[in-house]
Amino acid sequence: MLRGSVLLLLCLLLPCSGQLLQQEAERIMDTTPVIDGHNDLPWQLLKLFNNQMLLPASNLTQLNDTHTNIPKLNTGHVGGQFWSVYVPCDTQNKDAVKRTLEQIDVVHRMCELYPETFACVVDSAGIEQAFRDKKVASLIGVEGGHSIDSSLGVLRTFYRLGVRYMTLTHSCNTPWADNWLVDTDEEQPVHHGLTPFGKMVVEEMNRLGMIVDLAHVSVETMKMALNISKAPVIFSHSSAYSICPHARNVPDDVLQMVASTGSLVMVNFYNQYVTCSNMSTVADVADHMDHVKKVAGIQSVGFGGDYDGVTGLPTGLEDVSKYPVLVAELLARNWTEQEVRAALANNLLRVFRDVESVKASLQGTLPLEEPIALEELEGECRTSYGYTTTTTTDSSPALPLPAALVLLLALLSTLLP
Ligand SMILES: *[C@@H]1O[C@H](CO)[C@@H](O)[C@H](O)[C@H]1NC(C)=O
Ligand SMILES: *[C@@H]1O[C@H](CO)[C@@H](O)[C@H](O)[C@H]1NC(C)=O
Ligand SMILES: *[C@@H]1O[C@H](CO)[C@@H](O)[C@H](O)[C@H]1NC(C)=O
Ligand SMILES: *[C@@H]1O[C@H](CO)[C@@H](O)[C@H](O)[C@H]1NC(C)=O
Ligand SMILES: *[C@@H]1O[C@H](CO)[C@@H](O)[C@H](O)[C@H]1NC(C)=O
Ligand SMILES: [Zn+2]
Repeated sequence: MLRGSVLLLLCLLLPCSGQLLQQEAERIMDTTPVIDGHNDLPWQLLKLFNNQMLLPASNLTQLNDTHTNIPKLNTGHVGGQFWSVYVPCDTQNKDAVKRTLEQIDVVHRMCELYPETFACVVDSAGIEQAFRDKKVASLIGVEGGHSIDSSLGVLRTFYRLGVRYMTLTHSCNTPWADNWLVDTDEEQPVHHGLTPFGKMVVEEMNRLGMIVDLAHVSVETMKMALNISKAPVIFSHSSAYSICPHARNVPDDVLQMVASTGSLVMVNFYNQYVTCSNMSTVADVADHMDHVKKVAGIQSVGFGGDYDGVTGLPTGLEDVSKYPVLVAELLARNWTEQEVRAALANNLLRVFRDVESVKASLQGTLPLEEPIALEELEGECRTSYGYTTTTTTDSSPALPLPAALVLLLALLSTLLP
C-alpha cells in the first residue's frame, strides 16, 4: 500500500519535475539566452537559393527545410549566433575569397532584411546590447583558413567587414596549417601544426581582435595555437574526444591547455561527434558538457550546435528551438544556475572581452606585412605580382655581376701599392 502510493507519487512527480526543469531553463534563458558558436544557415541559403533572399521560399520566417528559421530561434531563446560564412575546401586556390565575401554579404543582408530579429554586432558590448533589445546578436565566423588565400591583407579586410573568428582550417590543410584529417588514416601531417606564416596569422588575429577558432584543426595545430596565442581561443563546434574518439573532438591534454589559457569548447551536437554513431540523445550531449566541465572547468564550456551544417542530430535536439531541452538536462544533473549561465553566454562573453583587451594592449603594434613565400603557394590561376625579382625590396639597385667585379678590382687596385 505504502509502496503503491510512493510509485503513484513518483509517476505524478517525474513528468512534472521534467516540465518544471524546462520552465526553469526558459526562465534562466529569458535573461541569459544562448550564444551558439556555429550555425551554417548562410550555407543553406547558398545551396537552396543561390543566396537569393527575397524569394517567397527563402523568407526566414517561413523556411521549413532547415534547422534554423526565425520562429525556431525565438522558441530556442537564441540571443547570439556566430553565423558561419563557410565555403568548401574545393574553393581553395580558386574562388574561396569571392565566395567567402558573398557569404559575409548574406549575413549582412539577414540583419538588414529582418531588423526585428537580427542585430549585426562586432564586439562583446554589442552582444549585451542585443540581449537587452531581445534580438539575436549576429556575428560572423570564417570557417577555414583557405578563405584568406594565405593573405594577411585579406584577413584584415575580413576583420573590417565584421568577421570576429576564423577557424584556422576546415577539412583540408592550408599552406600554413594542418587540419584534423592528418590525425586519421586519410592524411599524413604536412606542417606538423602551424608553419612560421601560420604563426603570423595567429599573431595578426591577436592584434586585430579576431578570435582564433580551433575546430577542425589537427591536434598539433591546436597545441601550437594554444601555446602561442596571446588571447584565449575557442573551439566553435567540437566535442570531447574521451567521450567519443573522433578526430574532430578535443582530447583531454588539450582540454587542460584550454583550462590554463581561459579558452572555451563550444560542444557540437552532430551525432557522429557525440556518440561516434548515427544516433544520440540529449543526455549524450550533456555527457560531453559534463566532461569538458570536469576536465577543463565550468568556465570552459559552451554550446556549438553546428545546426544546418550537419545531417544527423540527437533525438530531442532536432533544430534551434531545442536549446532549452538541453539546459533542462543540465539542471537535472544539478548544474547550478550560475554554471548554466556561464555555459550559455557568460563564458563566450569573457573570452571575447579578453580578446578585445589583448587587441587594446597591442594598439601601436604595426600590422604584419611579410607575405607568404611564393613557393609555399599553389594554383595555376595565381599571378605573382609583387613577387617578381625585378621589384626588389632592397633600396639599392641590383648591380649586374660583371659590373660588381670591375668595381671590386678597381677597389683592390687602389689598395695595392
Ligand atoms: C512551411 O510550413 C508551414 C506549416 O506547415 C506552411 O504553412 C508554409 O507554407 C511552409 N513554407 C514553405 C516556404 O514551404
Ligand atoms: C517574410 O514574411 C513575413 C510574413 O509573411 C513578411 O512580413 C516579411 O515582410 C517577409 N520578409 C521578407 C524579407 O521577405
Ligand atoms: C610551447 O612553447 C614552449 C616555449 O616556446 C615550448 O617549450 C613548448 O614545447 C611548447 N609546447 C607545445 C605543446 O607546443
Ligand atoms: C544507422 O546505422 C545503422 C547501423 O550502422 C544502420 O543500420 C542505419 O540504417 C543507420 N541509420 C541512418 C538513419 O543512417
Ligand atoms: C542532484 O542532487 C540531488 C539532491 O542533492 C541528489 O539526490 C541527486 O542524486 C543529484 N543528481 C545528480 C545527477 O547528481
Ligand atoms: Zn565545421
